Amino acid sequence: MCGIVGYIGNKNSKDILIGGLSELEYRGYDSAGIAILTNGKIDTFKAIGKLVNLEEKVKDLEVDGLSVGIGHTRWATHGSPTELNAHPHLGEFSYVVHNGIIENYKELKESLISDGVKFLSQTDTEVIVHLYEKNFAKLDDELKAFEKTISQLDGAYAILLITKSDDKKIFFAKHGSPMIVGNSEDEIYFGSSDAALLGKASEVIYLEDGEYGYTSFGEIKLFNKDEEVALNKKPLVGDKISAQKSGFRFFMEKEIYEQSDVLSDAILGRVSDDKIIFDELESDFFDSVNHIKICACGTSYHSALSASYLLERDAKIPTTVEIASEFRYKEPLLSLDTLFIVISQSGETADTLEALKMAKRAGLKTLAICNVDNSSIVRGADFSIMTRAGIEKGVASTKAFATQVIVLWMLSLYLAQKRDSITKDKLQDEIKAIKHIPAATIVKDELHQQLKRLSKRYLHGHGFFFIGRDIFFPLALEGALKLKEISYLHAEGYPAGEMKHGPIALADSELFTVALIPKTLLYDKVKSNVEELCARDVTLLAISPEPFDLADDFIKTDSHTHPMGEFFEMMVVTQLLALEISIRVGNDVDMPRNLAKSVTVE
Ligand code: F6R
Repeated sequence: MCGIVGYIGNKNSKDILIGGLSELEYRGYDSAGIAILTNGKIDTFKAIGKLVNLEEKVKDLEVDGLSVGIGHTRWATHGSPTELNAHPHLGEFSYVVHNGIIENYKELKESLISDGVKFLSQTDTEVIVHLYEKNFAKLDDELKAFEKTISQLDGAYAILLITKSDDKKIFFAKHGSPMIVGNSEDEIYFGSSDAALLGKASEVIYLEDGEYGYTSFGEIKLFNKDEEVALNKKPLVGDKISAQKSGFRFFMEKEIYEQSDVLSDAILGRVSDDKIIFDELESDFFDSVNHIKICACGTSYHSALSASYLLERDAKIPTTVEIASEFRYKEPLLSLDTLFIVISQSGETADTLEALKMAKRAGLKTLAICNVDNSSIVRGADFSIMTRAGIEKGVASTKAFATQVIVLWMLSLYLAQKRDSITKDKLQDEIKAIKHIPAATIVKDELHQQLKRLSKRYLHGHGFFFIGRDIFFPLALEGALKLKEISYLHAEGYPAGEMKHGPIALADSELFTVALIPKTLLYDKVKSNVEELCARDVTLLAISPEPFDLADDFIKTDSHTHPMGEFFEMMVVTQLLALEISIRVGNDVDMPRNLAKSVTVE
């Protein structure tokens, strides 16, 4: 979703802003802009499309000495992606960038228009800058005018505002959208995510909802409800190199290859020879839990679905899974013996965050499974388990999904051991299987080459069905989602046993079926479902350790003793298949059209 950067200092603010925005590109955007204030003189540039278009426009701008700058990558919500709608938005003498949604912007806009204000854009954001200038005209004090402005806004926002009337400050506010202030000696940086600050700031402050303030060179003033608050600085950890592509064609490809390593990280210190350990959880936290409800969106929803099989099978806890955007408005009945789990790669997904807030309001125990520490979801939940996938830049999630699934598997076993619903021997077998997963997800060159070759046969047709049973059904959903996200080809995931209840009507030679046929789980059942499809002449790509005579294409996976070993290996196959098809059709794998990495609006 949108990205924000800001900077005050003596370095070249143009380079810092553009560099910061490029680190946020992975979030997805359709236009970008910057504004730089130097000695009362403002320069603004906006461009639609990729950041290179903006870079081209700013190339002749010289910035010397102390300057103040703000920048933004926009993913259109109110108003189409045009230069006028791109941020920064300008008033008479002030400029603003904003992430989130101003829910009462229509009322504010009408009132400003009746005061004679002229609007240039269709955005909700533009009201902020005009409102600020109106307040400034009355109060004649920048901070007071800014305070008054944010008090009039409903909705979610992270805002940076600069103004010619005080040209050495950035005013900022956070409510519901992420914002981080960083510094390195006297230089001050802003970013809507760590990625923009890595390699620049040494210390950071993760702003809390309701916090606002201003920064000038070497100074950060932070307030909450009119009171100045102390700065809670933390060292910024993370390395920039891992945020680069390291020779792979796309971040997504690099992230598929990284899965073996991040899965090792995810289990590190959490599995001993005979037990599962989560130091981050209080031992009595799960007492009195009789049900589990999991809420998530997209890929995270698929990991939740896989977990529901494991939680019921291992921990013997009834588990339901809901798509967060559906859960929000269904007036759900929640009982206090339910543990509410939210899963999110980014930790900022608006629907998931709101579902979490609803569960908290209802008094439920809450647990977040998340990849981004200090994110809104992590801060909101009672406890969190970090998935340790590292920064994921490809918009289509791969390693984040893999780490979510392994964490949820470990959680199922952790609960099983707590509730004595698993024997010692079975637990040891499970632990052995977990430890084998990093090896099972190493990408073999032979496999990648095979998928590269066969992908050329899957570029037409009238659609794909990914089919599987049990935990391989959510994997089929995820395989289909990956493919449609980056290839723009129609793909559906289906339970293999459900095909004959309708979808089989679509079967013909132009229907591509990707069948997940594990040996360790319901092999004969899936096989006969696939045979029914072959009898209708579908084109079949079978993925299985067992040869499948009817397959048009066959990917032979290794033999595993545990279904999860097969799950993770097949996951890699479906990811590579999507990647290679997308490359063949010439799409931007890392930034597919219409998608954003972090969906911070509902
Ligand atoms: C798909 C994908 C999305 C996200 C979804 C939830 O590849 O990445 O479907 O999974 O938008 O995002 P998080 O996990 O950040 O809450």
